[in-house]
Amino acid sequence: MPSLAEEVDRRRTFAIISHPDAGKTTLTEKLLLFGGAIQLAGAVKARGERRRARSDWMKVEQERGISVASSVMTYEYLGRTFNLLDTPGHEDFSEDTYRTLTAVDSAVMVIDAAKGIEAQTRKLFEVCRLRDVPIVTFVNKLDREGRDPFELLDEVEQTLALDVTPASWPIGMGQRFKGCYDLIHDRLILVERGNNDRPAEGIQCNGLDDPKLDELLPADLVTELREQVEMARGLCPEFDLEAFRQGTMTPVYFGSALNNFGVRELLEGVADYAPSPRPQPAVERSISPAEDKVSAFVFKIQANMDPKHRDRIAFVRLSSGHFKRGMKLKHVRSGKMMTMHNPVLFLARDREVAEEAWPGDIIGIPNHGNLRIGDTLTEGEDLHVKGIPSFAPELLQRVRPTDPMKMKHLSRAVEQLAEEGAAKAFKTRLGSQWIVGVVGALQFEVLADRIRTEYDVPVTFETAGLHTARWLAADDPAELKKFIDAHQGDLAEDHDGDPVFLARNGWHLNHTAETWPKLRLLATKEPA
Ligand code: G4P
Repeated sequence: MPSLAEEVDRRRTFAIISHPDAGKTTLTEKLLLFGGAIQLAGAVKARGERRRARSDWMKVEQERGISVASSVMTYEYLGRTFNLLDTPGHEDFSEDTYRTLTAVDSAVMVIDAAKGIEAQTRKLFEVCRLRDVPIVTFVNKLDREGRDPFELLDEVEQTLALDVTPASWPIGMGQRFKGCYDLIHDRLILVERGNNDRPAEGIQCNGLDDPKLDELLPADLVTELREQVEMARGLCPEFDLEAFRQGTMTPVYFGSALNNFGVRELLEGVADYAPSPRPQPAVERSISPAEDKVSAFVFKIQANMDPKHRDRIAFVRLSSGHFKRGMKLKHVRSGKMMTMHNPVLFLARDREVAEEAWPGDIIGIPNHGNLRIGDTLTEGEDLHVKGIPSFAPELLQRVRPTDPMKMKHLSRAVEQLAEEGAAKAFKTRLGSQWIVGVVGALQFEVLADRIRTEYDVPVTFETAGLHTARWLAADDPAELKKFIDAHQGDLAEDHDGDPVFLARNGWHLNHTAETWPKLRLLATKEPA
């Protein structure tokens, strides 16, 4: 029976962040291929018919070539258990991505060698930095002509203000790309250009002076490699594990995910250096993964994964303890005990039910809406996990059912989607209208599609003449009440019943803030 400490130590829970098209999907597939996994895609494994019966909004997703829904993939490699959390790449879904990043201990940042750091890479990186999440960098597509490796290292260092150290070095580029020299272990494992087969062991050369290098590679490439490595070692700091774990240094791996180059080195890097589950901050105290008692938090809700059943899966990250199926956990927000009858695991290949799980693992808990994003589950202690905020939406529209008789159905749909975190829903004080808030315009389309297909309510979204929303807080409850009484026409409630100020434009927001100095107009909200 493995001990809790050993299981914690073995786990690596991470995500891949990148700008669309840099190669995240390809790299994910290759990591799974190397890991010999696979349980791909989603909490409830959709097979054959069921998968084909997916609702129309999935078509929206496919047509747009974006991944709307995140999922979890677990695989074993080199004696470690990896939990890879997928993040939607499209910028319209950044809030979902943000929350997923609250559930990882490290991230792999994929960069296209020809493009360098792109807008979305940078945004996601900033989210990681907020939590000091250690970043491993993978420069992809070296099989094409890209930028000079030194230039790329420099760009990462300058734009992200991180110390960089090359962990591997590319041998050639484009057509002549042969693979990557492992600078940390001072060796080369030479493999053929790969495809979708599990890669061969390869031929190993030890050290840059190994004569095998001269035998196996063209002379000019070996000379260039020796020169460049010498230069890189002279210019860049050595890999410093502490600095990496604190999030101030990133090891940079080069490769080509498509051709299996550099993937093994990257995986070994994550296995060896990425941290095992870290302590989880809560309002009351920090939760250590090695604590005997189980605690966990919800970072994502996915509703209606199977359109035939109104099921919802709460994605829960274990923060501490040894979780077992059937155990009773306290849902701290409601104070109620919940029995974990059917936890879903994304773990072992052919099992869907989680018999057990350890800190760092993600389990799916089917439920009917009682679990919400940010909720904490414990064996009894009142703990509230911190750091999973909601963001004020940047776009607001009014939603109406095309058939006015379906107002009630619409309310249910909107409330459920808000609980899932797919959008913000605000019900106006006057007139009880639904205002839906999102961060990217595409989300309105996806929502309209989902409300129609999953709830059978055709809807229209229309402009509401609103600029943004702010949650309200004040030290003095009387002040809050005074404001609310005076601004009924600008007020709404979110799906938790918390008051929200709806600003018509930037001036309206600023003017209100100036007129009510004791009131706080908040752009983010932490779950209660
Ligand atoms: P994403 O998830 O980050 O959006 O990227 P994805 O893996 O889908 O890759 C985007 C495109 O880049 C794909 O080409 C993919 O084949 C290609 N790609 C990924 N890794 C490499 C690499 O190492 N080298 C080269 N040359 N290309 C790579 P596509 O044409 O959009 O799709 P497909 O038709 O090839 O599947």
